[in-house]
Amino acid sequence: MISVCVAGATGWAGSELARAIAHADDLALVAAVSRTHAGQVLGDVLHEPRLTAVVYASAREALATPCDVLVEYTKPASANANILVALEQGAHVVVGTSGLTDDDIAEIDAAARKRQRGVLACGNFALTVVLLQKFAEAAARLIPQWEIIDYAHDDKVDAPSGTARELASRLGKIRAPQPTIPLDRTVGPREARGATLAGSQVHSIRLPGYVISAEVIFGMPDQKLSIRHDSGSSARPYVDGALLAIRKVSTLVGLHRGLDSVLDL
Ligand SMILES: NC(=O)c1ccc[n+]([C@@H]2O[C@H](COP(=O)([O-])OP(=O)(O)OC[C@H]3O[C@@H](n4cnc5c(N)ncnc54)[C@H](OP(=O)(O)O)[C@@H]3O)[C@@H](O)[C@H]2O)c1
Repeated sequence: MISVCVAGATGWAGSELARAIAHADDLALVAAVSRTHAGQVLGDVLHEPRLTAVVYASAREALATPCDVLVEYTKPASANANILVALEQGAHVVVGTSGLTDDDIAEIDAAARKRQRGVLACGNFALTVVLLQKFAEAAARLIPQWEIIDYAHDDKVDAPSGTARELASRLGKIRAPQPTIPLDRTVGPREARGATLAGSQVHSIRLPGYVISAEVIFGMPDQKLSIRHDSGSSARPYVDGALLAIRKVSTLVGLHRGLDSVLDL
């Protein structure tokens, strides 16, 4: 039995995961974090009687109940501190929250290695996104020019999305794209060419009407290839990957990014 604490268990993504944990035979949700529901039983908040864990206002308080794995599903501003507290307490960590900076990642990796614990950070737990990443990596080996577009709802505060960041980072490890006109020779506002992340140009669109999508466009003379992923409006696509991450994270040491770290693809 793997004991789990979910930080952000009352949120859009965390509540769907908490319900799935309640129905998994090998997982036990032992504590939860949410400021507004602190002191309540999670099952009362989520209308799921199997969830008997108490909700705490902070990860530090919740982690007084020992757990094997903390799932971080709060917000970019609180994620780093929650992850470091969990490692300090000896838990492995699964990170669903987007927006970790490179400095956060370096700090978390060092803390995890010091404690010999695993951290698995996935900007997107959907299996179809893992495939998007793999297909894009294959394309980048053959096609030298691409740009990334990240579409999301208007109230998403972080940009680019975790999915777009992770995609840029992965493609940057294959090669740096070679734009025909270097960015510093852009005529007009430089911002029109997007942000440069790990060498890739990334364009984030935030508008009502969108849910979450990510697209990589590869261009070659007189031909182009678009690889695009669209999520629906429920948090269901993220559940199976997050459960897999919870089950596998203890096999890792240090910070690893992407579900394919624990998938045989
Ligand atoms: N990796 C993936 O596949 C995936 C999928 C979906 C979402 N995400 C990411 O996951 C994160 C959460 O998204 P969401 O849509 O679920 O957000 P949400 O609905 O706003 O839920 C956030 C949860 O975190 C809690 N929380 C927020 N700030 C906190 C703090 N300072 N201390 C303690 N608890 C805090 C909230 O409860 P209180 O406000 O009551 O504290 C709530 O339970 C975002 O970064 C999102 O981009 C990732």
